[in-house]
Amino acid sequence: MVPSEVGHIYMRILFIGDIFGRPGRTIVKERLPDLVKQHAPDVIIANGENAAAGFGITPPLAEDLFELGIDVITTGNHVWDKREIVDYFQMTDGNQNSMARRILRPANYAPDLPGWGVYEGRKKDAPYAVINLQGRVFMTSNDDPFRVADRLLREIKAKVIFVDMHAEATSEKIALGWYLDGRVTAIVGTHTHVPTADERVLPGGTAYITDAGMTGPYESVIGVKKELIVGKFLNNMPVRFEPATGDVRLCAVVIDCDETTGKAKKIERLMIT
Ligand SMILES: [Fe+2]
Ligand SMILES: [Fe+2]
Repeated sequence: MVPSEVGHIYMRILFIGDIFGRPGRTIVKERLPDLVKQHAPDVIIANGENAAAGFGITPPLAEDLFELGIDVITTGNHVWDKREIVDYFQMTDGNQNSMARRILRPANYAPDLPGWGVYEGRKKDAPYAVINLQGRVFMTSNDDPFRVADRLLREIKAKVIFVDMHAEATSEKIALGWYLDGRVTAIVGTHTHVPTADERVLPGGTAYITDAGMTGPYESVIGVKKELIVGKFLNNMPVRFEPATGDVRLCAVVIDCDETTGKAKKIERLMIT
């Protein structure tokens, strides 16, 4: 733990990048206990949009991740790939403690869609919030994530606010980082499955990284068997994507923040084999 200063309680957040298929789920299961021992996070968040063989997440897979100690699961453009998740979202009444309520889909999707884009919980006797957003550059056109963030931040009471910005373009993620600097605790990019080395605490006190990277097989093209993707680039024929298996890594970031102000103190990037 971060040494406590008088009057301050530090909160530590562990965020695990896109968990891809069985290899990603397995390394989380194998390595999360050590990570917890080593870093003692108060809140564990993971992007699970690729948990089901690269495409979406099913309720049992989400529940397995919750049982490992993950508090909140974020997603992105793959959220609807497994239709069961729609029923799962609709089964709950929105009770913050239910497992279905702790899986997010991007908040800037059409407002009448099933599911939620924000979760508000409590840890260390302090409230925290998780926001899931999706970019619009080289992605399907959703509501403006910048203005949706403005609206959500007017409603959220917690000081500690973690944002998963699920987006393709580095520029869009960096721009959102500057836009929200000082207003949220952390903005962590997901979706590209390629970790970036630009983690830092911005001047206003927001921890930022363009992409946390994938938790899954790196002997691949962003998780998929490399031969299939190389073939796709060569001949452009339709192909069924299958998860790769080699060189599995867990990518994550650890963020320390002051829970009384919500300001980040530190962000550390992890890649574990
Ligand atoms: Fe992903
Ligand atoms: Fe994605």
